[in-house]
Amino acid sequence: MNGLFTTLLILTAGISLILLVIYAFSLHALNKAAKNLESGDLQTSIPKTPLPFLGEISRHYNFLSGAVTDLQRVEEYQQRMLAYEKNEMSHLLEKEVLSRQLSQQLSETRGANQTISELNKDLEEKNRSLNEAINRLSSLNQLSRMLGMEHDRKKIYRMIVSLSSELLQAEIGHLLLMDEDGKSLSLEYSQGLGEKSDSRRKMAVGTGMAGWVASHKKPLLVRNFKNQEIFSVKSAMGYERKTAISAPIAIGEEVIGVISLINKTNDRSFNEDERTLLATIASETSMALHNALLLEKVQTGYFNMVQSLITAVEAKDIYTRGHSERVTQYSQLIAEQMCLSPERMEIIQKAGVLHDIGKITIELAILNKPSTLNKDEYEKIKVHPSVGYRILEPIDFEYDIKLCVLQHHERPDGKGYPNGTNAEEILLEARIMAVADAFDAMTTKRPYRDPMSVQVALEELERYAGSQFDPDAVVALKKIIDMLVSTDSVSLLHS
Ligand SMILES: [Fe+2]
Repeated sequence: MNGLFTTLLILTAGISLILLVIYAFSLHALNKAAKNLESGDLQTSIPKTPLPFLGEISRHYNFLSGAVTDLQRVEEYQQRMLAYEKNEMSHLLEKEVLSRQLSQQLSETRGANQTISELNKDLEEKNRSLNEAINRLSSLNQLSRMLGMEHDRKKIYRMIVSLSSELLQAEIGHLLLMDEDGKSLSLEYSQGLGEKSDSRRKMAVGTGMAGWVASHKKPLLVRNFKNQEIFSVKSAMGYERKTAISAPIAIGEEVIGVISLINKTNDRSFNEDERTLLATIASETSMALHNALLLEKVQTGYFNMVQSLITAVEAKDIYTRGHSERVTQYSQLIAEQMCLSPERMEIIQKAGVLHDIGKITIELAILNKPSTLNKDEYEKIKVHPSVGYRILEPIDFEYDIKLCVLQHHERPDGKGYPNGTNAEEILLEARIMAVADAFDAMTTKRPYRDPMSVQVALEELERYAGSQFDPDAVVALKKIIDMLVSTDSVSLLHS
């Protein structure tokens, strides 16, 4: 009994000890977990224990610990999300600021681009204006040089109208000259009028645009005819005007003409620069015309002097009296019949008067010799065209006048004198004059023969047409004589 009791006691003591150890161990784990909890470690869990009370505490502790851990994780997650959102918000704000800055910079760049574009346009416009100014100055310089070399007034008129129309891009250009009475202007030259013009080519000073310029003695600009009431849209010459510039041509204080340019080829309006340029051209023209007029006076004086000299020489030669005058008349009739231009008619007229000027160096004894000339005398006669050419050479006559004097004894077959020039190189005016010269020589009395009749002289000319004489000029003379014969006016030839 005692043994059993002892055994039971020992067994009870053993079990108690074991339970005590388990309690101690559980309490230690619970204590450690509580300490870890105090230090913020929620990961520590309490091992399961078979002890009812401590087991329940451990289970509650572990549950609470897990719940707190979950809450802590949720909070951490929320913290991270909050941080992330803050970060995102910060980025968004930065982006918005950047976007605003970018937008502003873009706007500034656009503004700068527009300014650059405007500056470029301005620069291009200035370059264009500069190029135009250079071109105009160059053209003006060229015009000035050309005017300086030209002494023929009609050519000067044509030159300034055509060149200024081209330079200033005008559809119509014209020049009116002051009449002798100083009260009206007459159209001298125009271009671009075409069929727009009617027959009215004269206007009173003070009326119309050119009349206004002549009376006010200053250049005029009409930008748009529809925006003013002084001048009508339709000109006195019958054409429609949109825009125009006009300038007086004056020598000293005296207005001698008016140049006008009407309508631009590019449909723009004329401007003040172009008015000034036209006024400059008119001024250059005035100087050229002044020089041309002086030269004309000198030439006219010289021409009259030579004509007087020829008349004096012919007066001593009873057989050739009036010869130069008649040759001039016949030449003019033939030239008219052959439809020569007014310019070539003028060459004929002057060369006709001067053609035998070289004879002033030939002895009268030879000119008036009553018999046939010997070889030496004929050789002296043959130099008179060359002498005449040399007399006229230093004078600023039209070159063709001098050439005509030189060639008036040349022949189409090249057997003429003084140079034996070939037909194609003989001036038409000289060929006409050779026919007129021979016709007058044959139909007037000579010391060694009586005059031939007009018909016989004409037959002689026809016989040698093509070899000695220009065939066309002979045909023209025949037509003139036939016409005079048919009207019984042939006596007029020697009147
Ligand atoms: Fe002659």
